[in-house]
Amino acid sequence: MNEEQRLQSSQVKASPSEKKPEKDYSQYFQSVYTPPSLKDAKKRGKEEVSYFDNFKIDPRFENLGAGRKFYIRTYGCQMNEHDTEVMAGIFMELGYDITDSVNDADVILLNTCAIRENAENKVFGELGHLKPLKLEKPDLLIGVCGCMSQEESVVNKILKTYDQVDMIFGTHNIHRLPEILNEAYMSKEMVVDVWSKEGDVIENLPKVRKGQIKAWVNIMYGCDKFCTYCIVPYTRGKERSRRPEDIIQEVRHLAAQGYKEVTLLGQNVNAYGKDFDDITYRLGDLMDDLRSIDLPRIRFTTSHPRDFDDHLIEVLAKGGNLVDHIHLPVQSGSTSMLKIMARKYSREHYIELVRKIREAIPNVSLTTDIIVGFPNETDEQFEETLSLYKEIGFEMAFTYIYSPREGTPAAKMVDNVPMEVKKERLQRLNALVNEYAAEAMKAYDGKIVEVLVEGESKKNPDVLSGYTAKNKLVNFVGPKSIIGKLAKVKITTTKTWSLNGELLEVVSGQEVGV
Ligand code: 5AD
Ligand code: SF4
Repeated sequence: MNEEQRLQSSQVKASPSEKKPEKDYSQYFQSVYTPPSLKDAKKRGKEEVSYFDNFKIDPRFENLGAGRKFYIRTYGCQMNEHDTEVMAGIFMELGYDITDSVNDADVILLNTCAIRENAENKVFGELGHLKPLKLEKPDLLIGVCGCMSQEESVVNKILKTYDQVDMIFGTHNIHRLPEILNEAYMSKEMVVDVWSKEGDVIENLPKVRKGQIKAWVNIMYGCDKFCTYCIVPYTRGKERSRRPEDIIQEVRHLAAQGYKEVTLLGQNVNAYGKDFDDITYRLGDLMDDLRSIDLPRIRFTTSHPRDFDDHLIEVLAKGGNLVDHIHLPVQSGSTSMLKIMARKYSREHYIELVRKIREAIPNVSLTTDIIVGFPNETDEQFEETLSLYKEIGFEMAFTYIYSPREGTPAAKMVDNVPMEVKKERLQRLNALVNEYAAEAMKAYDGKIVEVLVEGESKKNPDVLSGYTAKNKLVNFVGPKSIIGKLAKVKITTTKTWSLNGELLEVVSGQEVGV
């Protein structure tokens, strides 16, 4: 389907005030109605991904934002944060000003996350809070975008209950923001523009980056792994990689602008390049090419253990600006759990992968994601997660209680672990995570680390803070003039989640104006 056809079939207007049928909203729309379709989102077709590098604002919309302000609230992962940067870039090109207050905004977008139920509940809560504002300012536009918009049940719920919403659009068509806004201004009805099939790869989108020190760069979109608990393959579509030359150019440009750290983004970055049929070029090749760019730190997230290949390990071992920290979600330490999660590796395979990584990069810091209370998880299986955690010696983990996601295979399994048991497992796991984090930090006592100075500490404006290559937070006293620079800091105190230290010098010959 080309862009034109897709648009015709997916853009609908709905009047939220009229009485709606319980389930089938299609009866109610006069125009063609294609809501986000789980069935379509599940398909992995053979169609080629088209690459576009000609994003331009249609002259019709150039003044759309004159005298208007936008506000975007972002939920969820770095991918969403980066999508927000792109949407902010589009708003600015349309002539809008940015505001950090909802009360001041003419357009409010909620860029949503669908990964767990509590993430969704926050958004519904926020929509509730925004209703009085909408009643006060009827010209205000409220939009819902991001992963939740890709879900049928969410769109139906918004259509039915949240008539303060003016527009809903998904993750595949944020480049169509100008058209969607224009449509919303022209119409008193809710605009729904959700593409259920993944979009193409659009280059040259404008961006307003959040900072001038660290930047995110997408290397691929989507996920084909279909872990049984996960909604991402449905909300973000099939895996499609950006061309290496576009990524390299973007990273070079960031280096030239003075950025010090780039995080390469993808839901499953280790699958990078699998979809190219004209070249053999994978994440290891990309990292090898990026290594030569004069930029102090390059990292990536998130890795899947199954696709983590030997060439990548070999390249990462070359060090330099490739950081010695790998976030490698394991999810569970039990092979039988991993099997029903469809992770496509076993406990033993994970341990072997870590052995290879450590052999090549002895100093590597490993962090992970873990889910507790997946359907049928027994005490013994949970114990296996604890024992794997200790065996690997992770330095940090994001830990979650399993949350059933409608439409995923796991949602059909009986969620038979009682909530008290899930909570208790989470507590036990978190205690272990804290213990290992504190232990890893103790090793820094008296050591000299290199810190990318990001700004004033959130807790004390007289203190500077930044991160090491291994992503450890370091606080120290120093002049504000070194913000954005790399500094050598001697660690004097270690805590569970941060280090305190004394500034020694600024790296690469830069003077410290103390
Ligand atoms: N329930 C709980 N945690 C989940 N994650 C993904 N889907 C779910 C779910 N349904 C976690 C995984 C993933 C991280 C980003 O979120 O651990 O790695
Ligand atoms: Fe979700 Fe990650 Fe599994 Fe993809 S690899 S389905 S994003 S958990």
